[in-house]
Amino acid sequence: MNNIFWGGKLTIPIKILINTNFFISWLLGKNKNIPAMKHRIRLGYSGTYTNHVNLYDKTGGKHYSHIAEILLNDIEIKGKTILDVGCGTGIVSFLALEKGASNILGIDLSRKMIKSCEKKVIDNNLDSTIIQFKQTDAESPIIKGSSFQVVLSSLMLGFIPNQLKVIQEIKRVLEPGGLVGISTHGPEHYWEACDATFRIIDKKIAIGYRVEFWPRNEIEIKSLFKKCDFKNIKVYRLKWKEQFDSPEKAYDFFAATSSSWWFSKFPTYNRRMKESRRIRAYFKLKGIKRISMDVILAYGEKPIDKKVNYA
Ligand SMILES: C[S@@+](CC[C@H](N)C(=O)[O-])C[C@H]1O[C@@H](n2cnc3c(N)ncnc32)[C@H](O)[C@@H]1O
Repeated sequence: MNNIFWGGKLTIPIKILINTNFFISWLLGKNKNIPAMKHRIRLGYSGTYTNHVNLYDKTGGKHYSHIAEILLNDIEIKGKTILDVGCGTGIVSFLALEKGASNILGIDLSRKMIKSCEKKVIDNNLDSTIIQFKQTDAESPIIKGSSFQVVLSSLMLGFIPNQLKVIQEIKRVLEPGGLVGISTHGPEHYWEACDATFRIIDKKIAIGYRVEFWPRNEIEIKSLFKKCDFKNIKVYRLKWKEQFDSPEKAYDFFAATSSSWWFSKFPTYNRRMKESRRIRAYFKLKGIKRISMDVILAYGEKPIDKKVNYA
């Protein structure tokens, strides 16, 4: 059911509207076309539909760094080999380096994101044998073998239709005794911005289109970790409001960090930007400058297999 209906918070009329649309898209079989949905996310985070994502660090860096700090506070990374899944512009990876990780590999679906990480390595004169980035889908086998001591992932899981598969893959690449720490979008994350966007977006164009985003609550995330047999599981939820200087800044933050892939159905760049300006104007009209952040944090440890001694 979670992959059919919008699991996040919205106002009642918008929830009815959006879930009717999602139901239509389910009936049309659109939910099953995972490669197409993934393709749209990849293009969204590559800046293909609009140029909003170019402002990811400028508008979202402060907020996402805050979440990365929270994520890393509860996990020992000094001297460890780290995998950062869905690394984006590398906010978690570079923080892990600062905090003394020995080796870091960041992976992301979007080539543009990987390029921006590689540029930071060069610009900051960092050792590219210690911190590396690679364009890879988190749902495909990431690497051979189990060589990471810590796997981190911040605000990526919500883009994954088969979240269990990704967490199983994270477990597979961990050394026995290795640690996982993820932060993911909770049901109220950005809800005011999503609500305003769904309210204003041209419905003729968006009809039958299932937005490729699956927020989860802490019970669902805990159950995924349990299904993967992690031990010492700890899951908690943090909610707060981000206050922006103006509604336009709140919109620019939302558009950049979520990459605006839902404009993919709009036929031309000019049409997408026109739609974006309409939504931005609505933020201004309604004075939307406080956006909810709702983050689920989850940690676990890969068990060490006890060898049976038959001697
Ligand atoms: C909201 S951004 C978070 C980026 C970064 N972790 C941070 O904290 O700033 C989500 C990222 O997940 C990436 N992503 C989405 N689906 C993915 C997948 N299947 N495999 C790898 N990365 C994915 C996107 O390209 C995007 O860079």
